Amino acid sequence: MRIDPAPMQPQDIYRLLTGIVVPRPIAWVTTQSAAGIVNLAPFSCFTFVSSKPPMVGINVGLRNGEQKDTARNILESKNFIVNIADETMAEKIHLSGVAHPYDVSETTVLGLETVPGEKVSVPRLAMAPVSMECVLRHDIQFGTTGSTFLVGEVVMFHLRDGLCENNKVDTRALRPICRIGGPNYAALGEIYSMRNVADVATGPSDRVE
Ligand SMILES: Cc1cc2nc3c(=O)[nH]c(=O)nc-3n(C[C@H](O)[C@H](O)[C@H](O)COP(=O)(O)O)c2cc1C
Repeated sequence: MRIDPAPMQPQDIYRLLTGIVVPRPIAWVTTQSAAGIVNLAPFSCFTFVSSKPPMVGINVGLRNGEQKDTARNILESKNFIVNIADETMAEKIHLSGVAHPYDVSETTVLGLETVPGEKVSVPRLAMAPVSMECVLRHDIQFGTTGSTFLVGEVVMFHLRDGLCENNKVDTRALRPICRIGGPNYAALGEIYSMRNVADVATGPSDRVE
């Protein structure tokens, strides 16, 4: 099967891409309005883009042609926190994707406790096993649908005690959830290991150490 995207509608390409680019990790993003309302929403167009300084990015689309609360707050305050959820929080993640008015806090609606940020003005989710305090460094628009890729520098990592040793996160203990196409989620399946590529390489190694 071949699909030429040129004549396709954006929503059809979206459906195709979100089925192909899987599984996606989920950035569970807290932001804050100028009035102090804490906003929470999930974003699976999420990746890291740099390690020094550490930078992560989320792609936020428009809703009915208007900016989502998350993008508005980030562009206004320049601060946000990317929380990472575990398997036990799947339903809360899903429900936090419901659009509420700008002056309604999803953390209040869902009864989720927050903790003040250390280096940013925004609070993080108390129950999240991982949170990354971010300062906005780039906002880049892509395509014709008004999506904005927001890149933040991580100025503080928070990891639940016991989850990380020598900067290595115990993925089995983290038990992250990911998004696949539509309203579908998945947990990690089998984890298997291979020899490090640097040990089998015949040319220069890519290993970053
Ligand atoms: C698991 C999940 C992942 C999502 N990923 C994205 C995404 O990457 N980009 C996006 O614009 N919306 C995404 N959404 C939809 C937003 O979370 C939704 O529009 C939300 O209401 C935005 O909230 P806000 O207006 O408070 O920012 C996702 C929803 C769910 C449930």
